[in-house]
Amino acid sequence: MWGGRFAEGPAAVMREINASIPFDKRMWRQDVAGSRAHVAMLGAQGIVAADDVAAIDAGLEEVAAGYAADGVPDDLAMEDIHMLTEARLSDAIGPAAGRLHTARSRNDQVATDFRLWVRDATDQVLAALAALDDALLARAEDHAGSVMPGFTHLQSAQPVTLGHHLMAYHEMVSRDISRFRDNRARGNLCPLGSAALAGTGFPIDRHATAAALGFDGPTRNSLDSVSDRDFALDYLMAAVQCSLHLSRLAEEFVLWASQPFGFVALSDQWSTGSSIMPQKRNPDAAELVRGHAGRISGCLVSLMVTMKGLPLAYSKDMQDDKPPVFECHDLLAISIAAMTGMIESATFRTDRMRGLAESGYATATDLADWLVREANVPFREAHHITGRAVARAEALGCTLDAVPLADLQAIDARITDAVYGVLSVDASVASRRSFGGTAPDNVRAAIRAAREART
Ligand code: ARG
Repeated sequence: MWGGRFAEGPAAVMREINASIPFDKRMWRQDVAGSRAHVAMLGAQGIVAADDVAAIDAGLEEVAAGYAADGVPDDLAMEDIHMLTEARLSDAIGPAAGRLHTARSRNDQVATDFRLWVRDATDQVLAALAALDDALLARAEDHAGSVMPGFTHLQSAQPVTLGHHLMAYHEMVSRDISRFRDNRARGNLCPLGSAALAGTGFPIDRHATAAALGFDGPTRNSLDSVSDRDFALDYLMAAVQCSLHLSRLAEEFVLWASQPFGFVALSDQWSTGSSIMPQKRNPDAAELVRGHAGRISGCLVSLMVTMKGLPLAYSKDMQDDKPPVFECHDLLAISIAAMTGMIESATFRTDRMRGLAESGYATATDLADWLVREANVPFREAHHITGRAVARAEALGCTLDAVPLADLQAIDARITDAVYGVLSVDASVASRRSFGGTAPDNVRAAIRAAREART
C-alpha cells in the first residue's frame, strides 16, 4: 500500500511488530461501515464518480460477507484490518478500489473505527448493567425486611436489612450506568475526514459522514481528532470503577458463602467442586470476578502509560490502544454476567443472618439512643452506660435483650422495662427511618423510586 518509495520489503520481525491485524480484525464491521459512509459522501460531493462509488460499495459488502462467513485471517503482510479490507476490495472490483482512500488516512480511519467499536461496547455494557440492576432490585424486594448484621471493620455494628445492603450495590450500579452514558454522549463525535492530521483539500462533507455513522457531529480539530484516545480511556475508567463494585460484591459473596458466615448458598450452577475434597462448594465465579478487577485496572494503566507524553498527532504507539480495551471489555462483560447469574440464583440464609445479628450486641446503639431520648442522658454518657451493659451481657453469656432489668438498673437506675422495646433487631431496623436509612419501608420506597427512575 505504501511501497512506492521502497526498494526492499520489511524484515520479518519488522512486519511482525508492525502488524495489528491479529487484534484489530475485531473491528472489521466498524471498518466496513466507516468506508461505506466515506465513499457515499465522496460520491455525493462529486469527488468520486457514481459508477465507482456503486462498485466500491457493492465490493465492500462482498468483503464483509466474506469476513462474516470465513472470519478474518491473521495476514501479517496486510498489517491491519484497514489494509486487508482495501486489498480484498481491490481483488473484488479492481483499480476503482484505489479511489476509496481519497481524502482519508488510516489515522482518521482507525480513530473512527475505534470510536464506533467503543460505542458498541458501551451499549452492550449498559444493557448488561440494566440486567444486573434488575436482579439486585428483585432480590432486594424479596429481602426488604430480612434482618442481617451490618458491619464496620467487619465487626458486627448495627442490624440492617439485606434489601438495604443489596440496594447499596444498586446505587453503585446506577453510578456506573450514568458514567457509561456520559462517556457515550461525550465520545459520540466523528473524526473521519480529519485525514492524516491537517484535514484535506478535497471538498468533503464531514457532517454527512458523521450523521451516516450515527455520530452527533464531526470532531472539531483535525490534530486532536487523530491523536485523541480519551474516549477509550473514559471507557476504561468507567470499567475500572464498575469492576471495583463488582469485586466488592464478589468478595462479600465469597465471605458469605464461607461456613463461618453461612449467609448465602450459591446455586449448583454457580459453584464448583474440588478434585480431592468431596464436600466442597467453591465460589470460583465470585473469586474470578474479584480477580478480573485487577486485570481490568491493568488495562487502564496500560493505555494511560501508552498515551502519556505522546506528541501530537498520531504515533504508532497508539496502535497499542486496542488490546487493553478489548481485554477489558471481555473481562467486564463476563464479570457482569456472572454476578447477575449469582445474584439471581443465590439462596440467602436469612435465619443465619438474623441469628448473627442478634448475637453480636448489634442493638447497643439503640440502647444508648433510648437513654438519650427517654432519660435525657447526654449521648457520650449513654455510650458509656451501654458499654457497661454490653460487658454485663458478655459476662452473663447472653444477648443484650436477655440481660435482667435488675442488672441494667444496677448500671444505671434510669433504665426501665420499656427499654426492651428497642433492643430487638426488628425494632432496631424498623426505627431507622431517616432518609436513606435501613427501615424496611424505606427499602421498599427506594426500590419503587429506582424502578420509576428507570422508565
Ligand atoms: N494499525 C494502525 C493503528 O491501529 C492504523 C493507523 C496507521 N497509521 C499510520 N500512520 N501508520 O493505529
